[in-house]
Amino acid sequence: MKDAAPGTTGETIYLADYTPFGWTVEDVHLTFRLAPESTRVISKIRFVPNPEASQERFFLHGEELTLVSAKIDGQSVSPEITEQGLTCAVPEGAFTWEAEVEIAPAKNFALEGLYMSNGMYCTQCEAEGFRKITYYPDRPDVMSVFTVRIEGDEPVKLSNGNPVASGEGFAEWHDPWPKPAYLFALVAGELVAHPDRFTTRSGKDVELNIYVRPGDEDKCAFGMEALKKSMKWDEDVYGREYDLDIFNIVAVDDFNMGAMENKGLNIFNSSCVLASPETSTDANFERIEAIIAHEYFHNWTGNRITCRDWFQLCLKEGLTVFRDASFTADMRSEPVKRISDVIDLRARQFREDNGPLAHPVRPESFQEINNFYTATVYEKGAEVIGMLKRLVGDEAYAKALDLYFDRHDGDAATIEDWLKVFEDATGRDLTQFKRWYSQAGTPRLRVSESWDDGTFTLTFRQDTPPTPGQPTKLPQVLPIAVGLIGPNGDEVQETTLLEMTEAEQSFSFSGLGARPVPSILRGFSAPVVLQHETDTETRAFLLAHDTDPYNRWEAGRSLAKQALLRMITEGAEPDPAYLGALQTVITDETLDPAFRALTLALPSEDDLAQTLHEGGITPDPQLIWEKREEMREAMARWMPDQLATLYRVHQVPGEYRPDAEPAAARALANTALGLLTRLDGGEAARAQYASADNMTQKLAALTALLSIGAAETELAAFYEQWKEDRLVIDKWFSMQVAFARPEETADVAAALVAHPDFDMKNPNRFRAVFGALSMSQAGFHAPSGKGYALLADWLIKLDALNPQTTARMCAAFQTWKRFDAGRQAMIKAELERIAAREGLSRDVSEMVTRILNH
Ligand code: PHE
Ligand code: ZN
Repeated sequence: MKDAAPGTTGETIYLADYTPFGWTVEDVHLTFRLAPESTRVISKIRFVPNPEASQERFFLHGEELTLVSAKIDGQSVSPEITEQGLTCAVPEGAFTWEAEVEIAPAKNFALEGLYMSNGMYCTQCEAEGFRKITYYPDRPDVMSVFTVRIEGDEPVKLSNGNPVASGEGFAEWHDPWPKPAYLFALVAGELVAHPDRFTTRSGKDVELNIYVRPGDEDKCAFGMEALKKSMKWDEDVYGREYDLDIFNIVAVDDFNMGAMENKGLNIFNSSCVLASPETSTDANFERIEAIIAHEYFHNWTGNRITCRDWFQLCLKEGLTVFRDASFTADMRSEPVKRISDVIDLRARQFREDNGPLAHPVRPESFQEINNFYTATVYEKGAEVIGMLKRLVGDEAYAKALDLYFDRHDGDAATIEDWLKVFEDATGRDLTQFKRWYSQAGTPRLRVSESWDDGTFTLTFRQDTPPTPGQPTKLPQVLPIAVGLIGPNGDEVQETTLLEMTEAEQSFSFSGLGARPVPSILRGFSAPVVLQHETDTETRAFLLAHDTDPYNRWEAGRSLAKQALLRMITEGAEPDPAYLGALQTVITDETLDPAFRALTLALPSEDDLAQTLHEGGITPDPQLIWEKREEMREAMARWMPDQLATLYRVHQVPGEYRPDAEPAAARALANTALGLLTRLDGGEAARAQYASADNMTQKLAALTALLSIGAAETELAAFYEQWKEDRLVIDKWFSMQVAFARPEETADVAAALVAHPDFDMKNPNRFRAVFGALSMSQAGFHAPSGKGYALLADWLIKLDALNPQTTARMCAAFQTWKRFDAGRQAMIKAELERIAAREGLSRDVSEMVTRILNH
C-alpha cells in the first residue's frame, strides 16, 4: 500500500528510510489548562534549521487534536491538517511556533497521551503518544529542554525536571536535560506522597517521592527502599549518579504496561509499585524491586542516551533489562535469578522466535511500534548484551560502558554506535556478532562428543530455522561456557568459554585421565536450543554433581522433560529414575531452598507442546495437561514423608519479610504444599489459609485448594475480605481461570466477565481474566473452541477502546500452527473474524495479519 498516508493502516515504516528531521528544537514551553472534557494545551516551540538535514516540508505529528489557533513568529497561520498531523509554510531561518489545542482526557481510554485514571490526570507518551497532546515532531531524535506550566485545582501537579514555581492553581516545572517528547510526563490529582531523600556519591541531596491515591500510603515503603538501593547500585556498579534535585514516582491504576521512565517522573502501573505483606506475594515484591530498578536505570540508559529511532528500541531496553537483572542478581540470588530468567525467556521469547511473530532484536520494519515492545526486543536484547559481556570480559565491558556514556551522553544513538564503542574499547571486530541484532530465530546447537586417548572433543553444529522474511540464516557468534566433570564427580575442567563462529566447529581438551562428562552452556551462556543427546544416567549424574547451578537445574529439567515426553508419546509410567534423582536433590539441605523449589517445578505445558511440535508430533493440550497432573500425583506419592518434612522445616517463623531468604523457604514449603494437597484432600492448605498473615501464604494455600477443586469457601472469604482492593481482586479473577479444569476454563472466564467487578477499561483486570485464559494452554485450546471465541469476542470489544492492550493480547494465537487441523481451522476463523472488523486499529490489524500470514 505504497500511497497510504503516513501512519495509516497498512503502511510500513522501514529502518532503511531514516532521515533526520529538518529542524532542531531549541526549547519547548507548554501550558496545560486542565479540564476533563476540554483541556487546553498551549505550546511555544523554537525551531532552528538542522544543518545535518535537508530542508523538507515542515510536518508536525498530531492526532485526535482540535487546533484552536496557530502562529509563527506571532503571526496567525492556517496549517493543512490531516489525521496524522499538520504541514505549514515556514520561514527559512529559525522561528517560533505557537499553538493552542484542545483535548479530552476523560474520553481517552487508549491510555496513551493525556488521560484520566480514577479522577487523576496522567500521561503516557512512549512510543508515539505525545502527538495526542500537541503538535510536535514526535520522534526520539528530536530532543529539547521543556518548561511546563500546569493550571488546575488539583492539589498535586507534577511534570519532569525540577519544580520552579507554584501557587494558587498552578505549578511550573523545568527540565534542564534535553529529552525526546516520549519522555514527557504530567500528573495532576489528589495524591499523597511517601517522601524520602537520597544523597548521591558527590553529595547532591535528592528529594524522593512515591505519589499514590489516599489510602495507599502504607504500600510505598518497599518501593522506596528499592529506589534507594537502585540509585546506590547504579553509582557503585556503573558509576552513574542521579542528575536532578527531585525524583518522583506515581502509581496509576489504569496503565497499559508495567511502568514508564519519564525523566524525573516515573509513572507506574500500581501493580508494579504498591506492596504490602497482606496484599502482595513474594513474587510481587521481587518484581516491584526489579521494575523500580529498571525504570530508574533508564535515566542513563534511555534518557541521557536515547534512541535515534524506534528501530533502536533494544538499545535502551535490552541494556536496561540486562542492568536490572544484574541488580536483582546482586540483591538476591544470582543462580536463582538466572534460572528464572531462562524459564521466562523460553516461555515468551523462544515461543515468539518459533512462530509468525518472530522478528530480529532490532526490527527493520513495522506498522505500529507499540507491537514491538516484545520479549525479543527486551529479553533477547538483554541476552545479547550478556553474551557481549561474556565475550569481552568484565573489565572490557566496564571500559566500553564508560566510553559509551562519555561519547554518547545527550545523543540519540544507534546499535552501530553501541557496537562501535565495544570495538574501540577492545579492538575486537564485531561484524559477525552484529547478526544477533538482525537475524531472527533461536539457533539450534547440536553437540556430539568423542574421546580418544586422553583427549575429549566436543563438536558443535549450529543452525537457525527460517523465520518470516528470513528463509536462510548465517552462523552466529556463540559464547559456549563449558566445564568437564570426572567420573568420580569432581570437576576436571573448570568453566571455560568456547567461542563458536562457524556453522560447525570442534573444541578439544587434552591430558585427561578418564572420559569426562561435559557440562555445556553453563549459565545459559547463549540463547540457543541445546540439542545434546544424553542418557538418563548422565543427566542424573549432572543433577547430582554439576558445579554450575544453572546446569544442575537444567539437568533436572531435562530429566523431567524426557520423563513427561515419554508419558505423553508412549504412555510410559512416571520415571522412577527421575523421581529418585529429584528426591535426592530436594532433600539436600545444603542447597538453596529457592533452587530446590525451581527443581521441583515441572516444565510448563507450553514448553512441552513446543518440544513435541519441534519433534514433528502434534501436541494434544488435554493430554499434556493430564500427564503433567499424573506426574505431580506421582511425585507426591513417591515422597510424601519428605514433602511433609520440607513443608514443616521451611515454615518461616516471626514477622513477614519479603527478603530473598525467607521467600526462598516459603517457595519450597509452598511447592511441597501444592503436592501434598493431592494426598490430604486439602487439610494442610486449609489450615495454612486460615492462619496465614501474608498474601504469599494465603495465595499458595488458595491455589493449592483450587487445583483440587476444593476452594469454594476460601474463595468466597477471599473476595469478601479484599473486595475494596483492586490489585488483590485482580488475583481473585486470574487464579480462578488459571486453576480451572481445562474443560471449564472458558466457562469460568465467561462467568467472571459478567461479574460486576469486571471492568474491561482497566488493563490489569482485563489481563487478569484473558491473560490467564490464554496462558492456560489446555483450557484455551479446549476442543470446544469456546476459549478462542470468547477471547476473540473481547478483543473486538476492547479494540474500540484500547488498541495497544488488545494487540498485545492477540499474541495468544501465535502458536496456532502447532496444533491439529481442527484447532487451526477454529483459530483461523476467529482471526479472520477479527481482521474483518470495520474500524480495526492499526495495532490489531498488524498483529492479526502477521499471525495469519504465516
Ligand atoms: N519504556 C517502558 C519500559 O520498558 C515500557 C513502556 C513502553 C511503557 C510503552 C509504556 C508504553 O520501561
Ligand atoms: Zn524499559
